[in-house]
Amino acid sequence: MSDQKIEALGPTLLVHVELPQAESQEDLDELYRLAESAGGNVRDAIVCKRDVPDAKTFIGKGKVVEVADAVRAHDVSCVIFNSPLTPAQERNLEKEFSVRVMDRIALILQIFAQRARTYEGKLQVELAMLRYEQARLVRGWTHLERQKGGFGLRGGPGETQIELDRRALRERIAAIKADLDVVASRREQNRRQRVKNAVPVVSFVGYTNAGKSTLFNRLTKSAVYEADQLFATLDPTLRTVSLDVVGKAVFADTVGFIRHLPHDLIAAFKSTLEETVKADLLLHIIDAADKRVEENIKAVNAVLKQIGADEVPTLLVFNKADLLDTPYDKVVRDETGKPVRVNVSAKTGSGLSDLLSCVSELLSSNLCTFAVKIYPQDGKLRSMLYESKAVSKESYADDGSLILELKILAADAARIDKKTAGRLRASCVDGKAPWITTEAKEDLDLDLVFDDID
Ligand code: GTP
Repeated sequence: MSDQKIEALGPTLLVHVELPQAESQEDLDELYRLAESAGGNVRDAIVCKRDVPDAKTFIGKGKVVEVADAVRAHDVSCVIFNSPLTPAQERNLEKEFSVRVMDRIALILQIFAQRARTYEGKLQVELAMLRYEQARLVRGWTHLERQKGGFGLRGGPGETQIELDRRALRERIAAIKADLDVVASRREQNRRQRVKNAVPVVSFVGYTNAGKSTLFNRLTKSAVYEADQLFATLDPTLRTVSLDVVGKAVFADTVGFIRHLPHDLIAAFKSTLEETVKADLLLHIIDAADKRVEENIKAVNAVLKQIGADEVPTLLVFNKADLLDTPYDKVVRDETGKPVRVNVSAKTGSGLSDLLSCVSELLSSNLCTFAVKIYPQDGKLRSMLYESKAVSKESYADDGSLILELKILAADAARIDKKTAGRLRASCVDGKAPWITTEAKEDLDLDLVFDDID
């Protein structure tokens, strides 16, 4: 699939079934937006209620006739169901309608396949699709096996074909995983370099279409693909920015989340999502004007938990404030005074300077404050401290030496100390080097986190 172009869906019909037992009802508006994002031109949506799904066709005989009529009347080439279908239901429905039938998960995979641009993104999506196929094949296999048992045969043609398919899938999955491991180790090297250089990472996360890329572009003035489409951004984009007090930081725009994000996708996007897990701060971007705002926040938190990023400090960023009529406080703080929520509009720019100040404030909570005495021979140390924007005040001592008051990230201080062969430590005014007692942030053992998902 890596080099293959995935076609847009074309004229499409949606089918939304309300089931009393469904643990969480999917939203029809969201399915509509997903279908349009995949290039579908939604001609109509059929809504029905059922107590339980029909085993053969999910919707039952009567509704099959109604949908088949609508397929012909609207001349659609695809029917999308808002609930998971079994492979058998999908096959039976395709036979009835003579057009392609897919469920919500297949649709999300299709969108990801259309959007993947980098080599890594394409491999990740292909892996997710193959795993999805593999799971379905296992189910299909069980079904065929039962038939075979009934005839008392061993090794019929069905079995051979499925066995071959399964082996081909296994081999392809192993090959993609090997390729992904190579790309992931390169990414890991870059990340380690950033940790070594003590550059804090701020990851943008959020429900799809919340405005992450628009905000990211405004804040970094780069050109990440932004569009009124779901999952416009697939591959993480990293940009270096310069912040007050903190100095250099990396902003990372990541893939959008969605309710019931297919499990295979989360597992396949493991290395991309590591940018999120290992960030120093998460900006959780929220579409404040979306009617399902609370549910969307919960859905994002659920994915963050699933990937092990729920412990990373987080600032809620309520975006699209321009669409709300009610006045709002720009920054909301908790009882300790720490910012927990900022209201912004990426479109008009309102609240963005507050947002950046909050980011600096939260990142700088790892800051050490102390003073150093600099003699003329310490030119290198002095310039490194200025370069890392660590100097908050300077004055001269009676002996003509320079006193610098510093606010510096512990990891930054350690780096500068090392590069100057201990000169920073030796220059501390009261003899204490506070960063040495500050515990370095532990590297999370991601493999453990993601092994659970695999
Ligand atoms: P994914 O790639 O799906 O994760 O989306 P995203 O969160 O990156 O959203 P994106 O930046 O692509 O924005 C989605 C839509 O919201 C676009 O049409 C933007 O123009 C619009 N949008 C973003 N921010 C604002 C805002 O502050 N106000 C308004 N009115 N629209 C906004």
